Amino acid sequence: LFGFKTNKVSGYFEPITPSKEDQLILPKGFKYDVIAAMDDIINQAGEKFGDGSDYNAFFPLEGSNVRGLLVNNHEYTGVFSIGPIKDGKMTADQVQKNLYYQGMSVIEIYRDENGTWKMDTKSKHARRINGFTKFELTGPAKGTAALGGATTAQGTFANCSGGVTLWNTALSCEENYSDTAEVSKLPSTHYGWVVEIDPFDKTYLKKHTALGRFNHENTAMGLAADGRVVVYMGDDVKDACVYKFISKGKFDKSKGRANSALLESGTLYVANLKTGKWIPITLDGVLKAAEGKADVQAKFKTQGDVVTLCQEASRLVGGTPTDRPEDIEISPFDNTVFIAHTNNDNHGNIHGHITRIFEANNDLGALDFDFEIFAAGGRQSGFSSPDNLVFDSDGDLWVVTDISSTSQNKGVYKSFMNNGLFVIPTSGPSKGIALQFASGPVESEMTGPFFTPDEQTLFLSIQHPGEETKDLQNPTSRWPHRSGDLKARAAVVAISGFKLGK
Ligand code: FEO
Ligand code: CA
Ligand code: CA
Ligand code: CA
Repeated sequence: LFGFKTNKVSGYFEPITPSKEDQLILPKGFKYDVIAAMDDIINQAGEKFGDGSDYNAFFPLEGSNVRGLLVNNHEYTGVFSIGPIKDGKMTADQVQKNLYYQGMSVIEIYRDENGTWKMDTKSKHARRINGFTKFELTGPAKGTAALGGATTAQGTFANCSGGVTLWNTALSCEENYSDTAEVSKLPSTHYGWVVEIDPFDKTYLKKHTALGRFNHENTAMGLAADGRVVVYMGDDVKDACVYKFISKGKFDKSKGRANSALLESGTLYVANLKTGKWIPITLDGVLKAAEGKADVQAKFKTQGDVVTLCQEASRLVGGTPTDRPEDIEISPFDNTVFIAHTNNDNHGNIHGHITRIFEANNDLGALDFDFEIFAAGGRQSGFSSPDNLVFDSDGDLWVVTDISSTSQNKGVYKSFMNNGLFVIPTSGPSKGIALQFASGPVESEMTGPFFTPDEQTLFLSIQHPGEETKDLQNPTSRWPHRSGDLKARAAVVAISGFKLGK
C-alpha cells in the first residue's frame, strides 16, 4: 500500500506527532467512523456490543469490500461496563456482567452511499458470543482428567487478539483468563485456549486444546512447504515463550471448513532462541526433562496434561523465556515471522522490540531458525511497547503500541504521549523507522488493525479509553464524545482515506 512512499517526501501521508488529546487523531485527509461502541444494540434480539474491543477480522459478504461480517473480540471489562469494584471483590451482579461483556461480537457492517461505515442491526448473522456460550472441546485434552473429563466448556472470555484461518473462520485467543475464571468460579483449565468460530454459522464453536493452554495473545496461520498448517502463537506474560503448532495432516482447499480438523492433531513446538531450534512439547520429552523429579513427573500423565500445563512443560523441554511475546505476523513476502515483544521490566526492556524469525529455507515447517531484532522500541525509533501487527500489500508493518495506562505520559514514556498506531517499512531506506499514523484517546490502546481486501478501509479498535477513571461523574475520557454521553466507550472504527496505488 505505502511501500517506500511512507515518508514525508512522498506526501502520501504526513506522519502525525504524539498527542495527549482525548481524541483519535489521524493524518490529514483521513477520517474515521465509529461502527460499534460498547452497549450499542447489534441485532434484532437486542444483544449489546461488549466492552474492551480488541481483535478485528472482516469477512466479506459475496466478495464485497463494503459489506461484510466483522468479528470483534471483547477482552475485558472496566468501570464503564460493570461499575467500580469495591474492596477488590465483584458483586454477584458484576460477575454476571463481566461474563456478558467479554467474549466476541459478530456484526454486519457496510459502507453507505455517503462513504460512512455503519452497523446493520437487521443482520441475520449478528450475535454475541460470551461467557455463557457453550463450546465443544477438541484435541488431546478433551475428555481427559486435565479438564475434569469435560468434552464441552462454558463460554469464552479474556479474548485478546486472534487470527483468520485458511478456511474462512476466525480464531480468538483467551489471554488473561484466570481473573475471570476465578471470580466466576468456573474451572480454570477450561480457559486459556484458542477458540474457533464460524461467523456464518452460529452452531460452530470450538476450543482447540492441541494449540496449548497459556496466556494466548494471537494466532498467525500459514502453510509449511509440504502443505501442513502452521500456527504461530505468543504467550503474553513476562518471561514466556513463543510457540508454533504444525498439523499432522495437510491443507486441502477443496475441503473448506473441514480443514479445521487439522487443528485437532499435530505437534506443538516451543522456540529455543539459543540453539535456533523448535522443540516439540511431548509427553516423552517432558518426562525425560523431569527425570529425577517425581513430583514434577507426577503432573504429566498424558499429552492432555502437557497441553494443559503448557507453560511449565515448555520450560522443561527448553523453551526460551522472552519479553512478553504478543502479536505475530507472517510476512506475505518472504515467510519471515515478526513477533512483537511488548516490554519486560523484569530486566530493563522498557520499550520492547520486534523480533524477526528466519525459518530455515523460508519454510514455515522448518525446525531450525535464525533471528534478528528487526526494530527496538525507544526514542530512536519513535515507538514504545509494540503489540498488534498487520502487513499491508507493500510490505509495511502497521504496529499499535501498548504503553500501560498507568505509565502513559509519565517518566521515560512521557515523550510518546498517548498510545499510537505506527507504520514501519520492512525494506528500503526507511526500514525499521516508525512513522506515526494515529494517536488514541486518553488512557486507551488501539488494537486489532485489519484491512479490507482492497485496503481502502482499516478497522481498528479503541480499547479502554478512560481506563483509570475512579469517579464516574468525572471520567478521564469521554471518547467517542457522542452528544450527551457522559462515559467513555470502547469501540471499533473504520478508517478511510487510503489512496491505493498513488
Ligand atoms: Fe491482551 Fe497481550 O494483550
Ligand atoms: Ca494485545
Ligand atoms: Ca495481527
Ligand atoms: Ca497488550
